Amino acid sequence: ISLKPYNTFGFEVKAKYLIEINQVDQLKALIKSELWIENKHLILGGGSNILLQRNFDGLIVLNKLLGINVLQQDDSSLIVRAGGGENWHEFVQYCIAKNWGGVENLSLIPGTVGAAPMQNIGAYGVEIKDVFHSLEAFNLKSGEVETFTADDCKFGYRESVFKHELKDQYLIVAVQFKLSKPNAHQLKLDYGIIKQTLAEKNITEPSIQDISEAVIQIRQSKLPDPKQIGNSGSFFKNPIINKQQFEELLKEYPSLPAYRISDEEMKVAAGWLIEQAGWKGYDENGVGVHDKQALVLVNKGNGSGEAIAELARKIQDSVYSKFRIQLNPEVNFVI
Ligand code: EPU
Repeated sequence: ISLKPYNTFGFEVKAKYLIEINQVDQLKALIKSELWIENKHLILGGGSNILLQRNFDGLIVLNKLLGINVLQQDDSSLIVRAGGGENWHEFVQYCIAKNWGGVENLSLIPGTVGAAPMQNIGAYGVEIKDVFHSLEAFNLKSGEVETFTADDCKFGYRESVFKHELKDQYLIVAVQFKLSKPNAHQLKLDYGIIKQTLAEKNITEPSIQDISEAVIQIRQSKLPDPKQIGNSGSFFKNPIINKQQFEELLKEYPSLPAYRISDEEMKVAAGWLIEQAGWKGYDENGVGVHDKQALVLVNKGNGSGEAIAELARKIQDSVYSKFRIQLNPEVNFVI
């Protein structure tokens, strides 16, 4: 079975078996079946944050658990539950159409609702942890559905417990979000580019719809659409370095973009480092570095996961030798 439709890089790799999960009961039966017991397995959501380097001699489980419904509400807020297999951006648009606030800055992020907490997706000053209430996850060993609070998820910058201690042990059934009603929206406009985009449109009192549209416009101007050019968004995380190293770098590179993390640490823009090291727009073996955002590696159409991994290693080495900064992938190297 070809996995090309199931990874946003669009790499042509194959799996032995693939099963689509539409109901939790199916999962309960699956984990008792020979198919499960005798094969290795891999859970996939939207395939938007993974690198597939080779064929997979096992079972792919596709999370297609759907449904959006309101669990609780009062005058100013509500708890909305969305199935793990829902498309993330469609969920965001649903919320905006209902005028529920909180996820508008996270418009147009590829992937699914279930994959979003795995790596605490974030953009333009908002991370999923800011609107997260809880999640339900199917324990692939016990067959029970367990509830996780935000604390249980151990969210960090593009991190959660599901990328570490609990890796490959759960399938995210649904996520519950705490969103605002119109009288209680708290707009996040800290990002300069958002303010600037709204100002260009002469919008002085933005609605959540306006913010969503601004974010979509910004993302479309820099980030390639995976339907046209295969990619996985930012390939590396923005690295965090100590203050001393930052100040030394700043002497040589006064325009180094950075954000304060704490008194001791700064987060620097990986895209800038990669561009300065000369990689922006680079191509080799059917893969390359996006010409409008150097943090995004792309499949030019005939590339492979191995070629991406090779290019990523070269970029890491080159950035390290120029800046003494180690870049770490944001994308999961699953196979
Ligand atoms: N920059 C360059 N050259 C480049 C790319 C960026 O000089 O080729 C500079 C920009 O000019 C800017 C700075 O680097 O000063 C930051 O760039 P940008 O605003 O595009 O954001 P980013 O730090 O590259 C992060 C997230 C994105 C998220 C945006 C907006 C990470 C790894 N990436 O990118 O998330 O959309 O901020 O909040 O944190 C993703 O995770 O897949 C993703 C796209």
